Amino acid sequence: MKKLWSGRFSEPADKLAEEFNASISFDKRLALHDIRGSVVHVRMLGRQGIIDAADAEAIEQALLLIAEEAETGVLQLSDEYEDVHTAVEKRLTEIVGPAGGKLHTARSRNDQVALDFRLYMRDVTGYVLSAIAGLQKEIVSKASLNMDAVMPGYTHLQTAQPVLFSHWIMAYFQMLRRDYDRFIDLSSRMNNCPLGAGAIAGTTFPIDREYVAKELGFNAPTANSIDSVSDRDFALEFMSAAAICMMHLSRFSEELILFSSSEFAFIELSEGFCTGSSIMPQKKNPDIPELIRGKTGRVYGGLTGLLVTMKGLPLAYNKDMQEDKEVVFDCLDTLLASLRIFAAMLPKMGINKENMLKAASKGYSTATDLADYLVRKGLPFRQAHNAASQTVRYAAEKGKLLQELELPEFCLFSSLVDSDIYGYITVEASVNNRKSFGGTSQESVTAQINDANKFLNSLK
Ligand code: ARG
Repeated sequence: MKKLWSGRFSEPADKLAEEFNASISFDKRLALHDIRGSVVHVRMLGRQGIIDAADAEAIEQALLLIAEEAETGVLQLSDEYEDVHTAVEKRLTEIVGPAGGKLHTARSRNDQVALDFRLYMRDVTGYVLSAIAGLQKEIVSKASLNMDAVMPGYTHLQTAQPVLFSHWIMAYFQMLRRDYDRFIDLSSRMNNCPLGAGAIAGTTFPIDREYVAKELGFNAPTANSIDSVSDRDFALEFMSAAAICMMHLSRFSEELILFSSSEFAFIELSEGFCTGSSIMPQKKNPDIPELIRGKTGRVYGGLTGLLVTMKGLPLAYNKDMQEDKEVVFDCLDTLLASLRIFAAMLPKMGINKENMLKAASKGYSTATDLADYLVRKGLPFRQAHNAASQTVRYAAEKGKLLQELELPEFCLFSSLVDSDIYGYITVEASVNNRKSFGGTSQESVTAQINDANKFLNSLK
């Protein structure tokens, strides 16, 4: 294996140790970011007169060529190299000769990898933001197209109050809206440039960290060289945000699984997103939402894993930290795939409005509306609640829905009930009377959808 550091050593590396130590199999993902960082670093070395301008120019040109090779897959990123940094530098010296060795002046792999990883994370956070917005768009479109569908809202998974289907699905829009902000927020903290910290203590060369930071699009250079090479908060914050976002997708999945069961039959997942059973001919299994729910555990595992890796590390860089990349890559791949497949699945999902409405009409979902009615007639809420509960119990005993009770039957529990009660206790009335901001009436949900569209349009 070709190494950058064998000068001090007289014994060859143990084969097993070498394989165990190597990171090229996964950090090759950072190749383009590694090269981008090196281009700016060498430009800075030339500008500052730390290396010859001619060498700097030759190195920069060679790096641009290597970037092309990396993009087209020509660049050798095989296991014969310890890591991506070694592979790029070896290729560089192949092209420009020993002068290529000047690139690493005033730099260590410790600040180099901290830079590469941040550059990479910054780019992929952009992909995550687009994928979140892509799913949000499908949610809004589903909500807008089905404003007439009423379903039961649940608390404790017991029928609570009727809600618009659109209101239910827009709840997931709001969760993703916060996820979006979390990724924006963490990317601003991620956006400081660690290059120039060297191995731990800074460098004896007159480098220009401001220049490097600015050229690479960072807000500023990081302020403490020790912290710069030992900080992996940006990876942890990314995985925390990913874990929360996956938790939302997992709850969404759980509801789709539940609502697509024959017991609920509120929604129908399209066949393209389901699988059959090898033994039971009637089965259409919701594998995709199940897998998203399952993969959520994997993302939590990644976050927990890196937290545990980091918790006992003395300052500054320790090789333990090489464990940061695979978990982050895995969380990223899982999150992106889950967001994208969710966005593809939603438009093809069918909705059974009749079944939803039927379910919403059962379970005395408008009992609160009866209580609210009595309150408006002057009864304190506690007493109104009591009268409504007794009415529900009576109706249940008679096997009737609330709206099927005769007026005298209502009056058994409160003389305040009048014939206008029937205008309040239907499912439709119950929904549409909830006009409070953020409530489930058509009006309130329309306002919510308008706001959501404003947000999505602002991204264009
Ligand atoms: N592959 C290493 C990592 O990912 C790069 C940094 C190596 N630094 C060192 N001092 N060995 O952490």
